[in-house]
Amino acid sequence: MARRPTTIAIPSLGSLDKAAGRIGTLLTQALRDAIAKGELKPGEALPSTRALANSLDIARSTVIEAFHQLHAEGYLVSRARRGTMVANLCAVDDLRASGSRSQPSQSAPHLPKNVARLAGVASTLRPQRAEPFAIAHPAGAVAPDDKWRRLGNRIRATRSAAPSGYTDPKGLLDLRIAIADYVRKARAVKCQPDQVIISAGTQQGLFLAATVLLSEGDFVWAEDPAYPAIVAILENFQVSVTRIPVDAQGIDIEQGVAACPRARVAFVTPSHQYPLGMPLSMTRRNALLAWARQNNSWIVEDDYDSELRYAGHPFPSLQGLDPARVIYIGTMSKTMFSSMRLGYVIAPPPLVDAFAGARALIDRHSPTADQHVLAQYMKGGHFEAHIRRIRVAYAERRAALIAALERELPSWVSLQSSDQGTHLVLWLPAGFDDVKFAGEAAESGLVVRPISSMYHASPPPRSGLMLGFGGFSVEHLRKAVLQLRDVLDASKQVMGDLKKQPRAGDLRAKRPAPGTS
Ligand SMILES: Cc1ncc(COP(=O)(O)O)c(C=O)c1O
Repeated sequence: MARRPTTIAIPSLGSLDKAAGRIGTLLTQALRDAIAKGELKPGEALPSTRALANSLDIARSTVIEAFHQLHAEGYLVSRARRGTMVANLCAVDDLRASGSRSQPSQSAPHLPKNVARLAGVASTLRPQRAEPFAIAHPAGAVAPDDKWRRLGNRIRATRSAAPSGYTDPKGLLDLRIAIADYVRKARAVKCQPDQVIISAGTQQGLFLAATVLLSEGDFVWAEDPAYPAIVAILENFQVSVTRIPVDAQGIDIEQGVAACPRARVAFVTPSHQYPLGMPLSMTRRNALLAWARQNNSWIVEDDYDSELRYAGHPFPSLQGLDPARVIYIGTMSKTMFSSMRLGYVIAPPPLVDAFAGARALIDRHSPTADQHVLAQYMKGGHFEAHIRRIRVAYAERRAALIAALERELPSWVSLQSSDQGTHLVLWLPAGFDDVKFAGEAAESGLVVRPISSMYHASPPPRSGLMLGFGGFSVEHLRKAVLQLRDVLDASKQVMGDLKKQPRAGDLRAKRPAPGTS
């Protein structure tokens, strides 16, 4: 019979710091390390628990507990008459071959092919700092009022708002009813509550649409320029994307049909093209729908901020013209606030169950309590009152920004006219590097989003800046325009001749959009 060692020669145990407490945990880890480093070899007998406890001057029960744990993890085995031994596991050999757990191997692991692309997405979709001219930071007069907070506190404290189990992946029925009522009335969407799937905002709505509608290798249309988040989603789904140019009437359907007639899906922003701001003309709407019917294709309508129109009524949705072909996506991010992470998909009836399945696959459903709060807020009429209120406040901010830009900025920049949303487009001269300029502006504390980076066409046909006005008071915007003027004046990119030109009297729509007819 093999004798059990009574003296302990396990260097890893020398590092046990008994004064640090949690001695059982430390001993267990030290034994794991000893096995991984080969100080204890497979088949080798361990000292008895009594001997080990004596030599370490700790309680025997602590050693017994550590041995139990290592038995359970498969590091140790017990053999009749031989006591406790190190198990003979390939995994242990592998561990030893690559050094100890606490000393990771020198060679870097081979990274999966998605790693670089997804890390790029994280940097593209980084939230903007809440400084002018960031987009989507509702604050002050445009933030939800006290009713929202009070209602939220009251509802979240009730049992029904916090059920302990999962709920329907399509979302809370009360909220789906409230949303169906709202979009029918406000957006001319044709739908029943059963077609509404609550999402975690447009981002998830677009992801769900891609999951339901696309297979690897499918052909799709996206606008050029486009919302970076939809471009990132389509890259993620490994489909073949044709970017269709946008002109003053929105996406150019003829060019789309010529370039890629058999696309499965067109992803569009018909009410307010992102980022340029024009609505899709009625002629183009009809042409898009006719193409989709003829080709048995789907249209995904991202209707992100069309409630916020300042001249006349919002443009009606595309979905209302053909509810069987269009997947409509709406969000609370623009009307309420983006950290709420609630939005909705209105799917044609044959797709509803698939959307529910895709939703369950991602995260089951949105948090139930917040859905209860929003449902009550909408049912009580507060949501529509809130929109009426913020439309006035946004209109004031927008007008102040336009006036300040026209007063202060040089004539070699021009404003793109758009009467809705929470941002304006400022065009820069051809060849002006807007990405570099955005960096220069950031050094002065300004947040501007360069437009050229949203084009796929190379070189990008235009250079410009998105200026968000939603989250800032009139005073704040005026000050920020002065700063922007200084950065423009200081920019090394502008030729001397341009700099000599007088200040702009009227910047509006000096330069037509590309391909404007
Ligand atoms: C084109 C477009 N769609 C949707 C959204 C809103 O996205 P989400 O609902 O995921 O916050 C934005 C926000 O900036 C947007 O620009």
